[in-house]
Amino acid sequence: MRLNLLRVRNLRCLVEAELAPAPGLNLLTGGNGAGKTSLIEAVHLLGYGRSFRGRVRDGLVRGGQTALELFAEWQDGQGRRRRVGLRHTGQEWEARLDGAPAPSLTELCAELAVVTFEPGSHELLAGGGEHRRRFLDWALFHVEPEFLPVWRRYARALKQRNALLKRQPVAAALEPWDQELAQAGEILSRLRSAYLARLEPVLASTAEEFLAELGRPGLRFQPGWRREEQSLADALLLSRERDLALGYTSLGPHRADWRVEYPALPGREALSRGQEKLTALACVLAQARAFAADRGEWPLVCLDDLASELDRVHLARALTSLVGSGAQILLTATEMPDLLAGPLAPQARFHVEQGVPRPL
Ligand SMILES: Nc1ncnc2c1ncn2[C@@H]1O[C@H](COP(=O)(O)OP(=O)(O)OP(=O)(O)O)[C@@H](O)[C@H]1O
Ligand SMILES: [Mg+2]
Repeated sequence: MRLNLLRVRNLRCLVEAELAPAPGLNLLTGGNGAGKTSLIEAVHLLGYGRSFRGRVRDGLVRGGQTALELFAEWQDGQGRRRRVGLRHTGQEWEARLDGAPAPSLTELCAELAVVTFEPGSHELLAGGGEHRRRFLDWALFHVEPEFLPVWRRYARALKQRNALLKRQPVAAALEPWDQELAQAGEILSRLRSAYLARLEPVLASTAEEFLAELGRPGLRFQPGWRREEQSLADALLLSRERDLALGYTSLGPHRADWRVEYPALPGREALSRGQEKLTALACVLAQARAFAADRGEWPLVCLDDLASELDRVHLARALTSLVGSGAQILLTATEMPDLLAGPLAPQARFHVEQGVPRPL
């Protein structure tokens, strides 16, 4: 996909901002607090229905305003011109997709595929399991039609079962929800495990391009219960007593996780902070690459403040690998990194000042 136009109104410091990115590498420079990350946040919000800096209601809408407004126009892999508009108050939202009202934010997110790497992205390795589950589920949501209905079934059954567990029910009341949870959960787990198996070689070749010194990374899936020993139905039955005592469902795909393993390292703790970031970047770029292989077009790649996260050598290697792919990239930096010359010269440059991006 290729983003042609982004309009943002009342998001953080952005009062009225317009950005018309070129294909390929776009560089956005500007001082601290100028609004660079806010522009990336706007794109991310359209692609995910949420920000990477907290919920919309937690300060995304510009102070003193009631709602933020976004508009984006892009060209999809078939060359079709697509449009999306979103108005969000923090509590309520209204969206339009190609001129018609969109019934759910999920519909918008299905159309606009964005991957983001920003200073908080090392949480993909260092943070809680929800970051890694979201990473898996984003990919499945975009490439696997079976995923969304089964994820919704699972989420509904989990909510019902947890509500019952809080009320200390008789076992018979749990039975139908256990069955539903087990059925949907097994499918969910199979999809996640298959995706990680597909991603593993893509991650290995991505990491080789800019992180070869650590050796070939592997991906280890943790389904959320002892899947190799028991079915989810059996595991739920066996954990009933404990779940009743706890008042919630203690195992299942909502507790799933995955991790990156390097053969020469004892564990994630052995990674330096920079290596942790590079590994997280390799995961994000591998995900974009796997998406491109499945869908025949790249997602929009947003890289916020990458130069302050990586050393010069790793930055050059990561950007060379990405620029060579033909993906459209939005890269922010406080100043133009001097290595962005020759084959890494940006297609377009913008300078952001007080929330206004101007083409250079
Ligand atoms: N709800 C809000 N209303 C008004 N201004 C806000 C709101 N939330 C954040 N801001 C301001 O918006 C700006 C956000 O800037 P942003 O994080 O996009 O800057 P940046 O260009 O990425 O800077 P840096 O180089 O420091 O990362 C800051 O000046 C911040 O104080
Ligand atoms: Mg920033």
